[in-house]
Amino acid sequence: EEYIHTLRHGAIPSEKALRAILSIPYREKALVDQVRYRAMEVMEREVGNLVYYRGIVEFSNICTQNCRYCGIRRSNTHVSSRYLLDEEEIVESALWCAERGYGSVVLQSGERRDEAFIELVERIVKTIKERSRSTELPDGVGITLSVGEQTLETYRRFYNAGAHRYLLRIETSNPELFSAIHPPEQRFETRLQALHDLRKAGFQVGTGVMIGIPGQSIDMLARDILFFREIDVDMIGMGPYITHPDTPMAVQGMMEKEALLHLSLLMIAATRLALPDANIAATTALQALVPDGRERGLRFGANVTMPNITPLRVREAYRLYENKPCMNERKEACEACLAGRIASTGRSVGLNAWGDSPRFFKRK
Ligand code: 5AD
Ligand code: FES
Repeated sequence: EEYIHTLRHGAIPSEKALRAILSIPYREKALVDQVRYRAMEVMEREVGNLVYYRGIVEFSNICTQNCRYCGIRRSNTHVSSRYLLDEEEIVESALWCAERGYGSVVLQSGERRDEAFIELVERIVKTIKERSRSTELPDGVGITLSVGEQTLETYRRFYNAGAHRYLLRIETSNPELFSAIHPPEQRFETRLQALHDLRKAGFQVGTGVMIGIPGQSIDMLARDILFFREIDVDMIGMGPYITHPDTPMAVQGMMEKEALLHLSLLMIAATRLALPDANIAATTALQALVPDGRERGLRFGANVTMPNITPLRVREAYRLYENKPCMNERKEACEACLAGRIASTGRSVGLNAWGDSPRFFKRK
């Protein structure tokens, strides 16, 4: 009960308090509600009540990496097809978002570091920037990249092209667990360096972890939150770990759904309390557990969500985990559906604004 005291006084929770929050049993509804209310209070005070859209275009599933949990890992030969969308189609998808008033788009793909890929990303970013300027968005639509570990030089090129945010999850801040879920050539230190390089290049940096990884403890999750504070991130996206049958980690199974959702929601609330002014996403993976997963995330302190605007014909090929939602809904349907979901939480969508995290500007 000691941690409830720290919550009331608006202090940043200690490691011990974070552990206590994350350990609240599912049955303790009153305690869960206290944490949830507090997280919502902090959210409203620090980042407001609006929910921001980040339209996500999953523009390629070609990947040189081999993460042991991920459905599009290099060694998965069961992926229906490996694709790279046309430049024009990627640009059009982003412009659709801008027209619809989304302040920002996320361009995500598998990881590649070849020059052709880097140049392609640069060109796309420049074109989207040029073509999305309007009275509502005089500087064009906000562009977030999520294309994995790159060199500092590459990050600088992306930034100069006009991208200003970047998502790169640490997946877990525990080096041993990181090693257990990645092949030996994918190193924790390299990931950490990449996060520092992104900051150096000027990006607003987003990171995050998967929740419920086999071998992950409550202590590790509490330390993940402290890690977010240490590297002082602007944005956080976390979601439940969900097995994909064609991956090596599938044999280890996953947490039971109800417990996993509960833990994921507590992680969101605890992260909100620890980083009050960060942008926190209600991620798609929450919706793979229960149909209203994302709404639940929004009710525990998240303020961002990502409508899927990947062209329908390639969505199946970008299946990172089992049960991924929105596989068959056109972008218009997905948008309408999400709008209803957000309205059901009593909140409105923040339109025609980048919706940057206040945390970034306070640091500057
Ligand atoms: N379950 C949940 N999340 C996953 N990701 C990849 N595979 C899985 C999975 N099996 C997440 C990783 C990655 C993001 C793009 O998708 O955290 O950073
Ligand atoms: Fe995509 Fe409901 S959010 S279909």
